[in-house]
Amino acid sequence: MYKIGVIPGDGVGPEVIREGLKVIDAASKKAGFKYETVTYDFGGERYLKTGEVLPDSALEEMKQLDAIYLGAVGHPQVKPGILEKGLLLRVRFELDQYINLRPVILYPGVPTPLKDKKPEDIDFVVVRENTEGLYLGIGRVTKKDSPEEVAVQEMVNTRKGVERCIRYAFELTKKRKKKMRLTLVDKANVLTFAHDLWQRVFYKVGEEYPDVEKDHAYVDACCMWFVKNPEWFDTIVTCNMFGDIITDLGAMIQGGMGVAAGGNINPEGVSMFEPIHGSAPKYTGKNVINPIATIVAGQMLLENLGEEAGAKLIDGAVRKALVSGKIKGLSAGKMGLSTSEVGSLIANYIS
Ligand code: IPM
Ligand code: MN
Repeated sequence: MYKIGVIPGDGVGPEVIREGLKVIDAASKKAGFKYETVTYDFGGERYLKTGEVLPDSALEEMKQLDAIYLGAVGHPQVKPGILEKGLLLRVRFELDQYINLRPVILYPGVPTPLKDKKPEDIDFVVVRENTEGLYLGIGRVTKKDSPEEVAVQEMVNTRKGVERCIRYAFELTKKRKKKMRLTLVDKANVLTFAHDLWQRVFYKVGEEYPDVEKDHAYVDACCMWFVKNPEWFDTIVTCNMFGDIITDLGAMIQGGMGVAAGGNINPEGVSMFEPIHGSAPKYTGKNVINPIATIVAGQMLLENLGEEAGAKLIDGAVRKALVSGKIKGLSAGKMGLSTSEVGSLIANYIS
């Protein structure tokens, strides 16, 4: 019996999570695994009512879960940063989810804005470091609001943190058995302390993986290649900030935020799965948002639990739905179906 923590969160979060759970339920019945859910009402509404973002006790409780399923955080009435840092980043950091795994897959039947690119050309995965870099919130402002103001934000890279991320990426490249190529994406030509460390660790750890090709791209060039030659990529490893940015671009070339999923992974602990999109407040409660990204995050959650059969069922059903011709578009309001109809369509392909 798995125990899955569910944080529907803000905006459209609850709507997409509801469909994700519908699909996980169908997969569990078919594949024969059992689970229970524990729902947490964290997010903007609760913060506005109680001033509480994430109590320590809940965080402790989460350490006992098998996985966490998250909708979205971000509320128009809450100052940017409070929920992001207090909830999303806090869970990532405190549960030491040091990998942010973001597959970029163009499914058959999904239009990409890249002319002449086909599903076989867009099938790679980004391994984003998830607990360090520019995300720690370390820095200072002096002489605020004066002409002499200085704002410093520090980028922290530890040998241990970089090494475990790079090692995970090499292992994943081997496991994927695709092009057997790992690309390090950095800005070592400018960040001559931080990303020099990444370079040294990459080639050092790489010695243990003679079968994996060691490839490198500066982050600006990487953005160019995503658009020009996405077929080059197999597995990418990069720092927290760059991983955040390039995976939004990755989501666009795979057909949009409606289908892009990710996992915050602690290979030795509790992992959390979520769509890459945000809370999209303007669509809240309208039942028009695309739940597929969240459904695919559910597939990743099952993979992480070792429920391969269940995960395959979801993958198969998502693919069927996308070529069925029943979903007219992938963005909010353009699907020709409601959020719940898309969820049911996919759930029905499983059962
Ligand atoms: C993401 C989001 C978060 C991030 C924000 C909401 C803090 O953009 O998951 O990519 O920057 O990591
Ligand atoms: Mn992001």
